[in-house]
Amino acid sequence: MNQQIIQEDDIRREEEFNARIAAGKTIEPKDWMPERYRRQLLRMMSQHAHSEVVGMLPEGNWLTRAPSLMRKAVLLAKIQDEAGHGLYIYSGAETLGTDRSEMIDQLLSGKAKYSSIFNYPTLNWADMGAIGWLVDGAAIVNQTVLAKCSYGPYARAMVRICKEENFHNKQGYQIMAVLMRGTKAQQEMAQDAMNRWWWPSLMMFGPPDKDSPNSGDLMRWKVKLQSNDDLRQRFIDRTVPQAEAIGLRIPDDKLKWNPQTRHYEFGEINWEEFNNVIRGNGPCNKLRLKQRRDAHAEGNWVREAAAAYAAKHARA
Ligand code: 3HC
Repeated sequence: MNQQIIQEDDIRREEEFNARIAAGKTIEPKDWMPERYRRQLLRMMSQHAHSEVVGMLPEGNWLTRAPSLMRKAVLLAKIQDEAGHGLYIYSGAETLGTDRSEMIDQLLSGKAKYSSIFNYPTLNWADMGAIGWLVDGAAIVNQTVLAKCSYGPYARAMVRICKEENFHNKQGYQIMAVLMRGTKAQQEMAQDAMNRWWWPSLMMFGPPDKDSPNSGDLMRWKVKLQSNDDLRQRFIDRTVPQAEAIGLRIPDDKLKWNPQTRHYEFGEINWEEFNNVIRGNGPCNKLRLKQRRDAHAEGNWVREAAAAYAAKHARA
């Protein structure tokens, strides 16, 4: 008898939950939610946070080699923002009942993913422009939609993060514009960075919708309000005119504007490369994980000191 009452209760609560989602209401941490919804959000948010923190590494590589004090200051500000985005999203993920230390252990053990894009090397200063313009540009397309998602803490975190991403995107585009007005060597450096970062930026939006095992749940529960392919298309449509405006060529000879659909048609993405990178076999996966593991170990004394201070003052 009890089992039956519990089941009926769960069915009623799931129906109420689905009605809230359908009515466009946000779900807050203290609201009842299906365990699967909680797990999906925890997966997505923790991996998003990991991406922000690992994403500091490729750019950190160029802090000491920025071409001017102003460029160094701007890059430093951007990298500090990314750290804040990571901590912000870890805090949002913790509202789902998992401590960030557990999420970070999943990253450091290689169990959790982070964005494929950060497993590519940054070979010269133009890469700082390409990352800010393309990678943060892709993040803006994704995150402005996430700012309307059904989970309150995630949506609210995106509002502040998108404001900072806009600064990241503009400073990156400005680096590319300045290079394209520079010497032939600088123009070639910018075009080379464009060639290396364009396709991996398209992969940031995930596999094609037909190969996306999580999108069904996430779309049904209005965590994802647009599909992987729709967001990818939106990014391409927005970015191609920007490239043309500064004389950069998109490395895709199949790219073509379709006046009927009012979208750019584009070539086939190398999904074998994508799957290889997310399986841990990208150019920099091992380096990035080692850097994160080393940084975590070096920071152990800070965590211990903070815990000791907190314990001492909790007793006082
Ligand atoms: N890199 C690594 N893994 C990826 C990926 C990518 N670009 N795209 C998809 N995957 C993984 C998914 O995590 C999933 O694996 P899992 O089930 O083990 O977690 C698998 O591939 C199948 O993909 P799905 O499409 O089914 O997964 P999702 O529905 O979660 O969609 C996503 C993937 C579009 C990345 C989605 O998770 C998302 O929008 N996340 C929030 C935004 C985000 O994480 N952005 C990362 C970049 S952060 C950034 O750019 C920082 C900025 O400041 C520069």
